[in-house]
Amino acid sequence: MSDQQQRRDSWSRYWAGGALHSCATSFDGNYDDAIGEFWRAVCAPLRGGERVLDVATGNGALPRMLVDLLGADGRLPGVDAVDIADIAPPWLGQLAPELAQRVRFHPRVAVESLPFADACFDLVISQYGLEYSELDRGVAELLRVMRPGANVALVLHHVDSLPVRLGRAEVLEIDWLQQTGGLLQRAKRLIPYMARLATPAGAASVQRDPEAAKARSQYNEAMRELQQRAGTTDASDILFETQAAVGELMQSVAAVGAAAAQARLDGIREGLQLARLRQAELAAHALDADAVARLCRRFAERDGLACVVGELRVRDQLFGWSLRTT
Ligand SMILES: C[S@@+](CC[C@H](N)C(=O)[O-])C[C@H]1O[C@@H](n2cnc3c(N)ncnc32)[C@H](O)[C@@H]1O
Repeated sequence: MSDQQQRRDSWSRYWAGGALHSCATSFDGNYDDAIGEFWRAVCAPLRGGERVLDVATGNGALPRMLVDLLGADGRLPGVDAVDIADIAPPWLGQLAPELAQRVRFHPRVAVESLPFADACFDLVISQYGLEYSELDRGVAELLRVMRPGANVALVLHHVDSLPVRLGRAEVLEIDWLQQTGGLLQRAKRLIPYMARLATPAGAASVQRDPEAAKARSQYNEAMRELQQRAGTTDASDILFETQAAVGELMQSVAAVGAAAAQARLDGIREGLQLARLRQAELAAHALDADAVARLCRRFAERDGLACVVGELRVRDQLFGWSLRTT
């Protein structure tokens, strides 16, 4: 599988899980606080006749916000939302038809190659999205589809933000879980013995088997190490989630059999691998001040566009850059 396909696959699977956005541990429901305030200010001038493009939309956290802020008083613009992943946000089907028909999702569409005519959007928005594209080509496409006088509003990953720091920490913890001799490998070694517990004769043979005792003690040791490690990292969530999933799996081995249990363990490993890909990508695409300044210079190529850049803080933590053209 090519890198691009892997990235698409990891995000497609994430969105198929139904999450509205990728920061589910920090925000219940949609984004709020400083990020919500930023978008409320961006939406304030909209009257309903505009066309808005959301790039790298995921499950449509931004279109959903536009619907919630503007739908009730007839000010919802026409919204096109693109993402390179397979997306079909579950909430769209629950909207009243007059609102749903104003929001169109375009799966498998890259920012760098937009299927829209020149000069057709009044506002381009993106939340933790545009920076994932090849920026030079992505920005050129945005400038192409923007009408004269159109504006851009972005929330972007910041190299020093909490989500980026957590992303980096999560990559380390996933590598620890998957290392040779790590928890997943030890769980794999224990599964055949756990499966033998399904019958009295099997259980008796496991009791007498020194290799079974060794596998169990190594597994227990890995679980204890995980517990200690969780106290030393900001990314303890991924450790506890894996601990719970593997623990539950071990409880079920005798009932489901060794092959089904191995398949479930492979599923846990694959899920971790996809999460690693997303977190590594997040860290790799986060922008420092110079990169944001370069982005502003690109937008300034369009006559009259100037950028206002800010830092977004939520509960005293840095959560990203805001960038808005005027
Ligand atoms: C962190 S998520 C943000 C999703 C959404 N904007 C939100 O606020 O929840 C990043 C998204 O960028 C998408 N993406 C990455 N590269 C892309 C590209 N070149 N073109 C379009 N979408 C892309 C991914 O598929 C993923 O859905």
